[in-house]
Amino acid sequence: MLGFQPPAIGDEEIAAVTETLRSGWLTTGPRTVELEERFAEYVGAEHVLAIASGTAALHLSLLALGVGPGDEVITSPITWPATANVVVHTGATPVFADVRDSDLNIDPERVAELVSDRTKVILPVHLAGQPCDMDPLFDLALPIVEDAAHAAESAYRGRKIGALSEATCFSLYATKNIAAGEGGLISTNDSKVAEAINDLRIMRRMQGSLYDIVVPGYKANLSDVLASIALVQLGKVEKHREIRERQFAAYDAAIAELEGLETLERDSRDTHAMHLYVVRVDPERAGGTRDEYRARLAEQNIATSIHFLPVHKLTAYRELFPDQVPLPVAEKAGDEIFSVPLTPAHSDEDIGDAVAALRRVHASFTG
Ligand SMILES: Cc1ncc(COP(=O)(O)O)c(C=O)c1O
Repeated sequence: MLGFQPPAIGDEEIAAVTETLRSGWLTTGPRTVELEERFAEYVGAEHVLAIASGTAALHLSLLALGVGPGDEVITSPITWPATANVVVHTGATPVFADVRDSDLNIDPERVAELVSDRTKVILPVHLAGQPCDMDPLFDLALPIVEDAAHAAESAYRGRKIGALSEATCFSLYATKNIAAGEGGLISTNDSKVAEAINDLRIMRRMQGSLYDIVVPGYKANLSDVLASIALVQLGKVEKHREIRERQFAAYDAAIAELEGLETLERDSRDTHAMHLYVVRVDPERAGGTRDEYRARLAEQNIATSIHFLPVHKLTAYRELFPDQVPLPVAEKAGDEIFSVPLTPAHSDEDIGDAVAALRRVHASFTG
């Protein structure tokens, strides 16, 4: 089976972990601080805070901005459920704005229609690495927390994602472009937000030789063991992106010839992080549904995934918020999209195998 997104871990990461284990620091320490400094330089932000996960990064960012019961947070339905779950964890209500058909990113026009006096934060998600259309969101003059789990290398109109809004949240999860297994990073230029997140993540502030707490915080700090992996991965980020760029080009070339299959639009004014290659199936023209394509690819030993099923249709959200309004663009796309293998751990030959399988499967449906 050709894996969907196995991690690209080499001898350097293994050596870095060994060195950290021998250093005497297992928890947050010098490697974590170094990661924060290097990532701040990379994205051009004043502050970076290392966090236990991308999910916790989003949660603490919302709390730091004062989100709580009675508030609304407007977000995308085409995302990993964590994006909406953390809104629920704060006691606020997630309000889903439909996405644009072109790239399945949140549609700023739909967001503008949903803004109310309860709206506390807008939470856009840069799906697959394509930045959202940020200028119309900035025009709404509300605090923004970006879900940049897919967008480590992304830039919006020449400006790096990570230094644009109140807080930007990255993930170091096993499949991500900078992977440590688990972990997250928050970047911000607001020192008050940074301080609030720091109090929430580590539960402790030294006062001379004693400790004190200023809020009943969480345990959401990152360990040096994971930070040491992320540091090596950060050093490889451009090299790995170049490999994925070639993989994107191979898929683009195939898709262009396969009737009924498309990928998501990429805006040439932006830098795309090329985190996921999403294939969209028009069942009429492609001769089969998304689920049939995935099943046949699995028979050909090609693993695929879905990014994402619309969150508001998942059981917890149907039960918690039964009055959700229909989101036709997201719901249609949710039935039509799947993601193909993409990772620097795969060789050009591996991706060639995936492309050949996609062509065979397409031929089997279209005769
Ligand atoms: C869009 C998106 N948001 C948030 C997350 C949560 O990140 P983590 O797994 O690091 O908690 C993920 C993925 O894992 C994601 O894909």
